[in-house]
Amino acid sequence: MTVIIHDPLFYGSDDEADELFLPEVVEEQAPPQEEEEKREIAIVEVGFFAPENNAFGNSFRNYQQESLRRIIVEEFYRKNHTFQTYDFAMAKKEEHGRLNKGVMSIWECCELLNEYVDESDLDSDEPPMEHLLQTAEAIRRDYPHQDWLHLTALLHDLGKVLLHPAFGGEPQWCVVGDTFPLGCAFSEAIVHHKFFIQNPDSRNPEYNTKLGIYIDNCGLENVTMSWGHDEYMYLVAKGNNTTLPPAALFIIRYHSFYALHQGGAYTYLMNNEDKEMLEWLHVFKKYDLYSKSRVRINQEEVKPYYLSLIEKYFPARLRW
Ligand SMILES: [Fe+2]
Ligand SMILES: [Fe+2]
Repeated sequence: MTVIIHDPLFYGSDDEADELFLPEVVEEQAPPQEEEEKREIAIVEVGFFAPENNAFGNSFRNYQQESLRRIIVEEFYRKNHTFQTYDFAMAKKEEHGRLNKGVMSIWECCELLNEYVDESDLDSDEPPMEHLLQTAEAIRRDYPHQDWLHLTALLHDLGKVLLHPAFGGEPQWCVVGDTFPLGCAFSEAIVHHKFFIQNPDSRNPEYNTKLGIYIDNCGLENVTMSWGHDEYMYLVAKGNNTTLPPAALFIIRYHSFYALHQGGAYTYLMNNEDKEMLEWLHVFKKYDLYSKSRVRINQEEVKPYYLSLIEKYFPARLRW
């Protein structure tokens, strides 16, 4: 599949490769095959070294720093917080949940996505494929037996393909950035909370209370999140009958929900199953964020491994 994209956000490759990201590896004994299945959901904490600076030499997710990128990010969140309403998210879920935009393999989607740079990302301007492989390879090194987690890392951002013209060329504000629940009050833990003043839902008495349309511990699966690549990729994985475990689907669906997994907000919407899955998301998020340093991965070398995982957990061609 060859698609040519002309996008103003395309950045060419960067030769500056140094090794900022060097997690300490704790040696683990390989378990016998059956045991490996059982411990799928048991978390093993490993030593993790977080670098101090991102690809631009700034601290991670620092929304205060003065830079052109910060201004772009702020403008991004102004739009995102103004236009992401409950009705908007429901309509997008209905539209893209039909999965009638195209048919392609996971790897083809990785390649298709590779020409976009995420405007909301303060920490990296690298092509997405580089970020996906950096994340996956860092997790693979520290969690060698959780192959489902390696694959989850590889595909967690593939929903950004919504930016592509073949998928309607959605604007960045409804594809990337942090996500948050709709139908209830916007937590102050959400980045650039001030912009919600322009969101019509914040003046809707049905939606602007702590619980809004939800009940305590209703479970995140019953909560409508702001629309973006997390929810879309979850729908793609589910709709194509992936055999990935529930923790993988939870990571894909909520990895941009920073108000929850970093800010500790909205915990009253979670049920017990969500709380268990959140442990895995905490593992994943460190790699998602801190692998955004300038470490190059040799794609051709690692490709066969990831193709074997795709074959294990997904059909050869998926509906998107
Ligand atoms: Fe993401
Ligand atoms: Fe990511």
